Amino acid sequence: MKKNRKFHIQTFGCQMNERDSETIAGLLSKMGYSVTAERKEADVAVINTCSVREHADKRFFGTLGQLKKIKEARPDFVVCVCGCMMQQRHITDVIKTKYPWVDVIFGTHNIHELPVLLEEGEKEKENRTLFKKNGIMERGKGLISVWENGEDIVEDLPSSRLYRHKAFVNIIYGCNNFCTYCIVPYTRGRERSRKPADILNEVKKLAADGVKEITLLGQNVNSYKGITGSADVSHGETNNGKKHTDFADLIYMLQGTEGIERIRFMTSHPKDLSDKLIDAYKNCSKLCSAIHLPMQSGSNSILERMNRKYTKEQYMDLVAKLRIASPGICITTDIIVGFPGETEQDFQDTLDVIKKVCFDSAFTFIYSVRKGTPAEKYEDQIPEDIKHERFRRLVAAVNECSSIKNAAYEGRKEMVLVDGPGKKDPGKLAGRTEGYKLVDFEGPLSLQGEFVYVDITKSNTFSLTGELDISHV
Ligand code: SAH
Ligand code: SF4
Ligand code: F3S
Repeated sequence: MKKNRKFHIQTFGCQMNERDSETIAGLLSKMGYSVTAERKEADVAVINTCSVREHADKRFFGTLGQLKKIKEARPDFVVCVCGCMMQQRHITDVIKTKYPWVDVIFGTHNIHELPVLLEEGEKEKENRTLFKKNGIMERGKGLISVWENGEDIVEDLPSSRLYRHKAFVNIIYGCNNFCTYCIVPYTRGRERSRKPADILNEVKKLAADGVKEITLLGQNVNSYKGITGSADVSHGETNNGKKHTDFADLIYMLQGTEGIERIRFMTSHPKDLSDKLIDAYKNCSKLCSAIHLPMQSGSNSILERMNRKYTKEQYMDLVAKLRIASPGICITTDIIVGFPGETEQDFQDTLDVIKKVCFDSAFTFIYSVRKGTPAEKYEDQIPEDIKHERFRRLVAAVNECSSIKNAAYEGRKEMVLVDGPGKKDPGKLAGRTEGYKLVDFEGPLSLQGEFVYVDITKSNTFSLTGELDISHV
């Protein structure tokens, strides 16, 4: 391999993809590549894709179009595409026919194959053979290796982390829930939980490396079911001689890790949010008083058609229990507007829950038809203008709540973990409170990665502004 080869990764989508990109960066670094922030300087460009909404697909194809120019100028430039879009045959077919400058395609289940794919690509530039394990196997211009489903979890892959002081930790891969609008179960396969001991080892290593905050990741962390033979890490029942660790057990287990000060998780499905987990908020001091609890809709009939398996009333009960267990807990959510069949009354039910719960913030989405999902076939799709009009009202209601919630922080002193220079104002520092509120304030860059106290002087809809309490620094 030539010396000083560089890679560039662009990541779309959720935290799972961000975490996967850290693994991809780790694998490439181990191969001797170094990272560059400029794609035009890279020898290898990786695009890690998301397919959750149509907009994400469109952005990806736009990016691919731009890469053609670099490829024409430098035929040695290697284009790799991966992530959730690649798990769909209709997408890889389009890439093969319309974007022949793509060199390597791989999926979400075989990231560890990247070094082999790149090396094979180098060796066989003229006559590329496509090889494969359990998915598509073909011959063509580029190398393609996409596994249809995850097999055993591959442990101990290298990782180049985005931050020194905080880290994502996968605990469960895949999703079994098949919400009728969602592509994720098709792109990430069935649920597979990592072993508690493997998770604990990773967290201990992260702590030794200076990590203070971990975020446990999974599409539905509440259905985590770790199998272990070792009694010291299991609090669960014995089943066929195997012991099960559930999600709350896992938090209790990780809480003991020295050096880790904050534990977060995402995402949590309301149907599986147990009392035991709610109790963990009382008992685990390191578990941050924050939860992302996607509601999707406040209408019971829409929730049923979405296959969410809870009602508006059950959702609000969970919120009440969480607020008793962890007073002041920051509750955020995801809401979809314009799902097939949504009436004005259904939408009013959603606005009603928003008002009653008063979320700290919410990710709001216009329903997007996804090929191959049950809702694609629903006949009562909502016209675009109605979707957009409801979306505007939804955003206004959510923002009003965020402003109310944030205003309550004015005059408070908050402990903030400093991430580094702010994205909006790089002259200031930015960090997160325990409730995951974004705070910006003046201070030296040397505080990056440290816990500091900040006096909140001003609240905005999406963030807080404050002054560093120097008596604690
Ligand atoms: N596993 C997580 C969410 C993963 S996708 C959970 O179950 O909560 C993130 C969010 O994207 C979802 O919560 C949903 O609000 C939104 N989403 C998923 N599919 C969508 C679609 N087809 N159209 C619009 N929004 C969608
Ligand atoms: Fe998608 Fe539902 Fe699974 Fe979340 S729980 S990833 S919304 S299918
Ligand atoms: Fe997107 Fe895949 Fe995440 S579809 S939201 S990157 S799991």
